[in-house]
Amino acid sequence: MSVVTKGRIRQRADLTYKFNMTSGRHGWLRLTPAYSVKVVEELIARLDDPLRVLDPFCGTATTALCAAYHGHEGVTTDINPFLVWFGQVKTAHYSDATIASTRRACAHVLEAVKRGTVEPVKPPPIHNITRWWCSDALQFLCALKGGIERESEEDSAERDLLMVAFCRTLIKLSNAAFNHQSMSYKEDRQLTIPFDVDVSGVFAEDTRFVLRGAEANPRGVASVSFGDARCLSDAVADPFDLVITSPPYANRMSYIRELRPYMYWLGFLDCGRDAGELDWSAIGGTWGVATSRLTDWERSTESLVPPLLEVALSGIAHSANKNGKILANYVARYFEDLWKHFNSLITVLSDGGELHYIVGNSTFYGVLLPVERIYAAMLEQLGFEDIKYQIIRKRNSKKELFEFDVSARWSGPKSGTWPRATKNAPTSMGED
Ligand SMILES: C[S@@+](CC[C@H](N)C(=O)[O-])C[C@H]1O[C@@H](n2cnc3c(N)ncnc32)[C@H](O)[C@@H]1O
Repeated sequence: MSVVTKGRIRQRADLTYKFNMTSGRHGWLRLTPAYSVKVVEELIARLDDPLRVLDPFCGTATTALCAAYHGHEGVTTDINPFLVWFGQVKTAHYSDATIASTRRACAHVLEAVKRGTVEPVKPPPIHNITRWWCSDALQFLCALKGGIERESEEDSAERDLLMVAFCRTLIKLSNAAFNHQSMSYKEDRQLTIPFDVDVSGVFAEDTRFVLRGAEANPRGVASVSFGDARCLSDAVADPFDLVITSPPYANRMSYIRELRPYMYWLGFLDCGRDAGELDWSAIGGTWGVATSRLTDWERSTESLVPPLLEVALSGIAHSANKNGKILANYVARYFEDLWKHFNSLITVLSDGGELHYIVGNSTFYGVLLPVERIYAAMLEQLGFEDIKYQIIRKRNSKKELFEFDVSARWSGPKSGTWPRATKNAPTSMGED
């Protein structure tokens, strides 16, 4: 196992989602934890033969689209149905005729909204919706969605493309602030776009942006499906030569929280309880009901635990840390899920299959969680070879937080040596 560092390590905005915003389809929707297509490009561009590339944590389908643009077969899965829909739309092939009919449908929608001849949809059941949109913006969005539903057929490519443009517009007209890694409200709770903006123009421009991306069809194919990364063989047909992915980080980021405006407007969510359930079903979710469930969560005694993880868990669970026990449970559950994931991954890899996991480390109460080393230890335990973790960028101002590329090659199972987990989260090992 080896660690590689390259020169001075910097924050590198070009290696984050920010790079994607101007990269055609990759810029269609912003997901802060999306990785930069540049990272994936660098890993894919060096390969000549068409390969089967898997991303078990699809997110916005960066890997699958990039693989397809390079003529490979990109296969990806996610547990969030909104992201599955979005990934399918983002990686599809569009004919000139579809693009032209979508352009016409957009013009008809805006004309009808202007004339007031559409039946607006009901606002989505988002808690405190007026904190998100002022009433003028809300009225416009309800009419716009009603117009899209009237002017495009259900389940058509035109409807999908207009809905992506709609997602862009609803965020631009919202009070959502992007100054935090998760979406939150602007401090002053005022709409940041003054309402004399040409709202129809915003949607027209968003549709033009989406259609420019749609014109650039990938030469390879991509398939995006619903699937749980803990049981991959149920979701995808093996074997895969290459895995490039960015799993959830152990940092309590909630993708449901981040994506809720889109999910509510597009009907993927209709109450807060479902949002919490969906988050609990995801790896690393702790939003809503997921947080309270962690209190009583117990580790599976079937799970194998790297000694490195036990040390970190003991530090986090220290009695001086107010929520130490629950956060230790959070971290233990995260790695239990990752262990299940890696065990299911080896059933779909080809011999010699290569993997790259782009993942960040974390800290809890000043205890460094060496995520990259724990991943590497898990891979070693399962029989991977050539395991490396290379720092690719500094994450933020905290000097100990980095993003890594954990890479390895599959060469068949070997028997490991770890102890099994005990049922309860570890107790404190004493003073820090
Ligand atoms: C860091 S994001 C991936 C971002 C992606 N690389 C991109 O560029 O957009 C992690 C993704 O893992 C998904 N996820 C979480 N738990 C999962 C599970 N058990 N199975 C499949 N996907 C899961 C989340 O929904 C989220 O989309």
